Amino acid sequence: MKYVIGNDHGGLDLEEVVKDELEKLGHEVYHVGAYDSESVDYSDYAKKACTEVIEGRADFAILICGTGLGMSISANKIQGIRAACVSEAYSARMSRAHNNANTLCMGARVIGSETCRMIVDEFVNTKFEGGRHQRRVDKIMDIEKSNKA
Ligand code: RB5
Repeated sequence: MKYVIGNDHGGLDLEEVVKDELEKLGHEVYHVGAYDSESVDYSDYAKKACTEVIEGRADFAILICGTGLGMSISANKIQGIRAACVSEAYSARMSRAHNNANTLCMGARVIGSETCRMIVDEFVNTKFEGGRHQRRVDKIMDIEKSNKA
């Protein structure tokens, strides 16, 4: 699978950890920035990375900011993105198994590198279960289409 990573300055510390873990798991990874500690806006990088998924150049996006929150709020505004903000491995697994998440968001000021590796492992190695969860995910996408509750 092909993964794209996007981060802001707050997420920089975990970018290398995510890249290393994905490569260890045998996946292709590329990075769309940010590349240094200069203060930037997380929404720009959420959009940049998620566009790679929507346009088919990547299968999944992994977004990192200070908390994961700004990235996930931004990513979930993009049509077709199902972003999960996760800080432990169980939710990472369920975000794939039940929610068919195509974007994983993490906070570099929230989790350490070992937790980050465990989250990435679960996200990468878990398949969507389909069945009743497909119906629920379809309803999420219906909300997006109608853009009202
Ligand atoms: C940047 O200071 C910080 O606000 C950002 O990385 C993120 O945590 C926002 O949700």
